[in-house]
Amino acid sequence: MPRASYVNGRYVPHVQAMVHIEDRGFQFADGVYEVIGVFGGCLIDGEEHLDRLERSLKELRMDAPLGRTSLILIMQETLRRNHVQNGKIYIQISRGVATRDHPFPAASESSLVVTASSASWPSLSEAKTGSAVVTGPDLRWQRCDIKSVSLLPNLLAKQTAVEAGAAELWMTDDHGRVTEGTASNAWILTSDNEIITRQTDDGILAGITRKILIRLIKREGYKLTLRAFTVEEAKAAKEAFFTSATSIVKPVTSIDGNSIGNGVPGEITCQLIDLYFDHMHQTRDYHGH
Ligand code: PDD
Repeated sequence: MPRASYVNGRYVPHVQAMVHIEDRGFQFADGVYEVIGVFGGCLIDGEEHLDRLERSLKELRMDAPLGRTSLILIMQETLRRNHVQNGKIYIQISRGVATRDHPFPAASESSLVVTASSASWPSLSEAKTGSAVVTGPDLRWQRCDIKSVSLLPNLLAKQTAVEAGAAELWMTDDHGRVTEGTASNAWILTSDNEIITRQTDDGILAGITRKILIRLIKREGYKLTLRAFTVEEAKAAKEAFFTSATSIVKPVTSIDGNSIGNGVPGEITCQLIDLYFDHMHQTRDYHGH
């Protein structure tokens, strides 16, 4: 079945889905994006992702091409046309097409692209398999809170991880503290069962999976502290994991070649995976499936 994507007001065959060569997203990475998981035909944490998208636009003084209700309708139609029940949806908004010049153009209409793709979610037991993480310097700018399509440092770091046989690279600030992963937020569990993840500030993206997981962790009464942790603390941790819309909660079993805990996914990490899976099922049921 051929894929269809939404580009600036039209649904077009995916192979013909294109933006102009002078789109500022293409020339300057002057754009923002969201990746939202789809489970049983429903957006996972959709409203929170759209809140963040609106915030990113505001921070960059970029106009939303249309209102939230219209955007949701476009996402639903893109899912329908691609028969996506499980997978993800990608939304990108750029400052639009203008003759190449650094200042914001006086008049340009923002561009909107929406794509959807199918992928099956891991089973609970597949989700509870460990992965390796390596560490390296955070080479990004000082507004990592904005979900911008300017991702070159993230790509370089991710490639380093892939070449080292790791699933993620945890980036570190000048003080040797972990900021986040290249496309995920970083978490550890200390020997006295305290869950730690970095506080949200301009140094990291406020992950939606992180936000929802914090809610679930508080509801269940686990000990939680929002603070930066060092690579040394991470290597000495009892458990570690990372979160994102596409990986949900992913156990980390080694960091820079050092085993974490017993070298197998931790007990509390696995409980958090259960909690998030329950949350996904409840979201889907709530939408009438
Ligand atoms: N990345 N930090 C960074 C730098 C990210 O790019 C992401 C998500 C996250 C996790 O955020 P969330 O839980 O809202 O997905 C943290 C997406 C998945 C991507 O770029 O593909």
